[in-house]
Amino acid sequence: MNSRFYITTPIYYPNGEPHVGHVYTTVAADTLARYHRLNGDETCFVTGTDEHGVKMVKTAAAMNITPLALADEMSGAFRSLWKELNITNDGFLRTSEVRHRESVHAVVTKMLAKDDIYLGSYTGWYDEGQEEFVTETEAKTAEFKSVVSGRPLTRYEEPTYFFRLKKYIPRIQQYINDHPEFIQPESRRNEVLSKLKAGVEDLSISRASLEWGIQMPNDPKHVVYVWIDALTTYISSLGYGRPGHDELFQKFWPANVHLIGKEIMWFHTVYWPAMLFSLDLPLPKVVFAHGWWTRDGKKMSKTLDNFIDVKQIKSLSEKYSFDAVRYYLLRAAVFGSDLDWSDREFDSAYDDLSKKLGNCLNRTTNMTNRYRENTVPAAVELQDLDRSVLAQIEALPAKLADAYNRIALQECAMLPIELVRAVDGYIEATAPFKLAKDPAQKAKLDTVLNLLVRGMYTALVGLLPVLPDKAAAGLKQLGVEIAGRSMLNLFANTPAAGHKLGEGSALFPRVEAK
Ligand code: MSP
Repeated sequence: MNSRFYITTPIYYPNGEPHVGHVYTTVAADTLARYHRLNGDETCFVTGTDEHGVKMVKTAAAMNITPLALADEMSGAFRSLWKELNITNDGFLRTSEVRHRESVHAVVTKMLAKDDIYLGSYTGWYDEGQEEFVTETEAKTAEFKSVVSGRPLTRYEEPTYFFRLKKYIPRIQQYINDHPEFIQPESRRNEVLSKLKAGVEDLSISRASLEWGIQMPNDPKHVVYVWIDALTTYISSLGYGRPGHDELFQKFWPANVHLIGKEIMWFHTVYWPAMLFSLDLPLPKVVFAHGWWTRDGKKMSKTLDNFIDVKQIKSLSEKYSFDAVRYYLLRAAVFGSDLDWSDREFDSAYDDLSKKLGNCLNRTTNMTNRYRENTVPAAVELQDLDRSVLAQIEALPAKLADAYNRIALQECAMLPIELVRAVDGYIEATAPFKLAKDPAQKAKLDTVLNLLVRGMYTALVGLLPVLPDKAAAGLKQLGVEIAGRSMLNLFANTPAAGHKLGEGSALFPRVEAK
């Protein structure tokens, strides 16, 4: 508690519009950042755009504009999307910014001083889609096509600076073995370890054939190859290598979590640790890779034109609220596994919110209003049913804390909803509307209403990082103001007897069938 929490997303390529994949990582990071802020941790959440490299040059050329003009426009689209979706990133870094270039120069200069960089000549294959050089063996195995996009690899021969990646491999292996929490989920760790065992070559880190990029400080004819440039973001955003501007770096490095998609695990758990070792910096505590979204079982691609794009996300948000989209995304699969977008599942997720959460809240406020003048009554003489629902209410804070610590985001979204289901069952089992008809059952009705309020209250507090707007609105209906309060404080202070509820209205209104 009250520690520091630094979380990052990948910096996204702004050579196309953002889509659900980017939204997913960003929402996941936002949920974790909100959770930590609510726990009183000093939190820093950074995202941004990765603007250099061949892909940007090509896309810009096709549009007859400069790479910088393309980057300005598309980076703006990412930045304003996060604003519009109420994402709480503290920083947004563009790799074309001067402050980033200064950090990259500091990184390369330090590596040169350590003799970790040498000039060589590179002949080989390049995967333009991944912006990645591919070894001869890998190229042959993949029939000289990209294993990711299937597009033909490009042949290259040029002088290039190499980073002594090989030198650091034993240390990386040792680190991964000694720190089982470093690579998550665990299955990804085994993938990285076996790829490391297969052998690794030094890393080509510069391109003489490209102008769009950050020049090597020792040789301006070369620009820095994109992964060194891109990974440095995680420290340049904090001011690394800029004396007098590195307060955040001193405070927040090492990162607590780099959240990424599974396809860039290798770069984050091999290249990045090697760079950090070379810079004599500590490694991030966790690199967590989530799975990939498909749509109705098919890979989302430009060719199939089947992306869930910003337009669709915005139209779903208008219809159902963006909180509902957040819930759907996080609920869709165990965090770390692949996910499939399906409209049916979206409807069923919305049912959780509308028919369970919204409905139970409505019933709770309506009955308290009707039977007890909107005032929480005292719980007296608990019976088995009451004790059982109370136990579930009291168990939620610890269960959630555990799920958040494990970055089990699906559980984080669903645990409070499970409590709502228990509350729903409790309403059915105790039938407060019947109790209300019998004056002899007054004490029993008091107990039921008290527990309903506490149950809904606890579920809503637990949902604050996932459904920031709706959970706050729900708590307002229960007469609770959350401003400035920590989750711990909120959990510890469930509404007591005598507490007045607020005004009720449907939290997740029914939406007509699509
Ligand atoms: N620029 C690099 C990352 C550099 S990080 C130092 C990059 N950019 S990207 O625009 O391609 O974004 C990749 C990230 O977007 C993935 O790691 C993931 O977070 C997200 N996703 C993009 N498509 C996705 C899916 N279909 N499904 C889930 N997330 C994916 O790679």
